[in-house]
Amino acid sequence: MSSYDVIIIGSGPGGYVCAIRCAQLGLKTACVEGRETLGGTCLNIGCIPSKALLHASHQLHEAEHNFAKMGLKGKSPSVDWKQMQAYKDDVIAQNTRGVEFLFKKNKIDWLKGWGSIPEAGKVKVGDEIHEAKHIVIATGSEPSALPGIEIDEKVVVTSEGALSLTKIPRKMVVIGAGVIGLELGSVYARLGAEVQVIEFLDHITPGMDAEISKQFQRLLKKQGLEFTLGAAVQKVDATKTKAKVTYKLRKDDSEATMDADVVLVATGRKPYTDGLGLADLGVEMTDRGQIKTDDHWATNVKGIYAIGDAIAGPMLAHKAEDEGMAVAEVVAGRHGHVNYGVIPGVIYTHPEVANVGETEETLKEAGRPYKIGKFAFMGNGRAKANFAAEGFVKILADKETDRILGAHIIGPMAGDLIHEICVAMEFGASAQDLAMTCHAHPTYSEAVREAALACGDGPIHA
Ligand code: NAI
Repeated sequence: MSSYDVIIIGSGPGGYVCAIRCAQLGLKTACVEGRETLGGTCLNIGCIPSKALLHASHQLHEAEHNFAKMGLKGKSPSVDWKQMQAYKDDVIAQNTRGVEFLFKKNKIDWLKGWGSIPEAGKVKVGDEIHEAKHIVIATGSEPSALPGIEIDEKVVVTSEGALSLTKIPRKMVVIGAGVIGLELGSVYARLGAEVQVIEFLDHITPGMDAEISKQFQRLLKKQGLEFTLGAAVQKVDATKTKAKVTYKLRKDDSEATMDADVVLVATGRKPYTDGLGLADLGVEMTDRGQIKTDDHWATNVKGIYAIGDAIAGPMLAHKAEDEGMAVAEVVAGRHGHVNYGVIPGVIYTHPEVANVGETEETLKEAGRPYKIGKFAFMGNGRAKANFAAEGFVKILADKETDRILGAHIIGPMAGDLIHEICVAMEFGASAQDLAMTCHAHPTYSEAVREAALACGDGPIHA
């Protein structure tokens, strides 16, 4: 039996970041992981591989649509799917090996196997029991099942199967117009598949600023994705090579079907806590199956903490990372802090979509007076040069104090641009603070400054 200050269960972005910070703070640290590689869903079957396919398919789109306009002529590239998969697998390997290297560098023990907690202060991995003063559960999430749908990860797939299809489908039906459905749907649309998205709500991307959501849907439609909104999928009948999706239109309860070679089920994820033994330990859960924690990520059982997708809040890798660092500080007897009001969200389509803080809808609901500063990328020289002028930046600021309350960007590099607004919000900045900051020309980030100017006396290039 070995003894640790902290054992973290799960090596996704929450768990591995927590382990590294614990080790940096001088704690004897181990991390339990049952997969053959470190990095969890994000690095192995989520964020990282999907970004590889998004990047590759975007390059194809550029070659097909924009190269000739720039005077780059010649045969446009064809898709070698096997090679694209190999590239994606190599990106995964580079990243997972990177985490392994960081574990070695920080002297973190990787306890290989699936962990459980037989009692507080003990973690069982395989036949071995290890002692730990503190245990952090970072076991993440898994796709939530939909009744009437059986996943085979070949014809009816979750995001995991969708990343490793044996061939590019001729027709794909995506159930759910959330982040996963739209990112992977746009990959296959760019690679030549006919993509139909069925969504329960009457708009895509639930929770997103409505104006951005509408513009986003318009742009995706232009790229060839088709949408059936206000439709609840009832069941999927599948053979070894084909599937039929049955859905009901909410407006009149009429039923219809859609055929597909592949059906991607992207209707949300749920916490993954199977096999940990939480019920026997008496760990309290929420009614949504999340581990209940207090403000310091502690469960009701002394010495057991939980972070990331397994607890409440947005299921985002970077939220888990922040909680991982914060709980490490708590365990080390210091103060951990996460500002849940400033957690950006990004959809890595083209164009990207990014947001932080309040939406117009949440501000209206709270009855908080606000003003809007908007600037379209059409007025941004760099965006025009790069065929990326569709979309806009929208900043929401307090009507009285000018303090930035939220921001929404659809456009080039939105996922990177959002961060200057995050920093501004962390410092309690006003839109004027942002507007008075010199921005290099010509950059996309000038559009952020222009939107900040639009909260005051007005933008220059509009
Ligand atoms: P989601 O919650 O974003 O979207 C699911 C969609 O499915 C919703 O719009 C919902 O209304 C719809 N839906 C549910 N049941 C349905 C039915 N029977 N028929 C038709 N539509 C139905 O879930 P998603 O896309 O699966 O993502 C899961 C989690 O992973 C999210 O929390 C997301 O934030 C996270 N994620 C984040 C990424 C990023 O930050 N770029 C990338 C991938 C995932």
